[in-house]
Amino acid sequence: EKGGFDHFMLKEIYEQPRSIKDCMRGRIYANEGKVQLGGIKDYTEKLKNADRIIIIACGTSWHAGLVGEYLIEEYARVPVEVEYASEFRYRNPIISEKDIVVAISQSGETADTMAAIELAKEKGATIFGICNVVGSSIPRITHAGVYTHAGPEIGVASTKAFTAQVSVLTLMALYIAQQRGTINQAEMVNMLTELDEIPSLVEKCLKTDEKIRVISEKLKDSTNCLFLGRGSGFPVALEGALKLKEISYIHAEGYPAAEMKHGPIALIDEDMPVIFIATKNSSYEKVISNIQEVKARKGKVIAIVTEGDKEVKKMADYIIEIPDTNEAYLPLLATIPLQLLAYNIAVMRGCNVDQPRNLAKSVTVE
Ligand code: F6R
Repeated sequence: EKGGFDHFMLKEIYEQPRSIKDCMRGRIYANEGKVQLGGIKDYTEKLKNADRIIIIACGTSWHAGLVGEYLIEEYARVPVEVEYASEFRYRNPIISEKDIVVAISQSGETADTMAAIELAKEKGATIFGICNVVGSSIPRITHAGVYTHAGPEIGVASTKAFTAQVSVLTLMALYIAQQRGTINQAEMVNMLTELDEIPSLVEKCLKTDEKIRVISEKLKDSTNCLFLGRGSGFPVALEGALKLKEISYIHAEGYPAAEMKHGPIALIDEDMPVIFIATKNSSYEKVISNIQEVKARKGKVIAIVTEGDKEVKKMADYIIEIPDTNEAYLPLLATIPLQLLAYNIAVMRGCNVDQPRNLAKSVTVE
């Protein structure tokens, strides 16, 4: 049932070209510049007039929510807040009938997320769900929603569910943008045409596996690890750190690269590997200066870069090349090598990758 792979996690990482395609099937009409989201189409007016979108989730799903925030604010120009469900539910949040709450959950059973939904519902908000498990509890208590269709995720560490959640949020962002008139038809056609290419680019990202195994060998005895990114590379950094800590038990932190100088820089020495999301996009030059700051303190730099990159290559100890794409889709690609990195390191450390200690696949207790 692991389809020839050693672990479910690896199988699920490798399924991503397919799972992302399944998630987008029937929802993208690139030539017509059209996105179809059957589950929420009855709420189009509500989306058009929403004052605010509040995303609630936990763990990896919360990271997907942060990517959603970048996309929705960038393209649809609606203010977005992303909240941990566990905090939201206990702090008397301000919510009105004009708010839309989007709850993200792979399992559809997370207790804190469910309680947050009930609270927002009582206050009159419209609730959408983005869930993977069909027929689970969350889709039953939301007003509408979109399934991620990633297929069953068995490994405790979430991988293909994350990229499917990000895919749905991308479609939502473009759909809302179109409805609100913040994107024109030509841009829409371009964006969707590029999005159509993502599954094959993810396939290319999987080819980094061999190189990543070499890097993993060097990092496997580290006690700490820092992940840094800017813009939508920041949630990718958080997700990379979470994957590593949960399955390899190496202490890892994700930070916005510019925040490094406000504290974490104190940790940097020759024993501190720092993984940068350093692809060619609007924050490229800024990330390069952050890399220089780490190198000046003898930190070990591992950088995820755009294919053919020359500048970062000169400074980094190791680079991992991923294909070029629209900046909006960076998280869908840059996450793949970080999943592989966590996986390989955990295997090398002899950890139980599919069932890490103290963790459960769905957290039904608060
Ligand atoms: C991390 C992981 C957890 C879950 C979190 C939320 O790999 O799997 O952080 O993302 O427990 O679970 P769902 O998405 O089922 O609500």
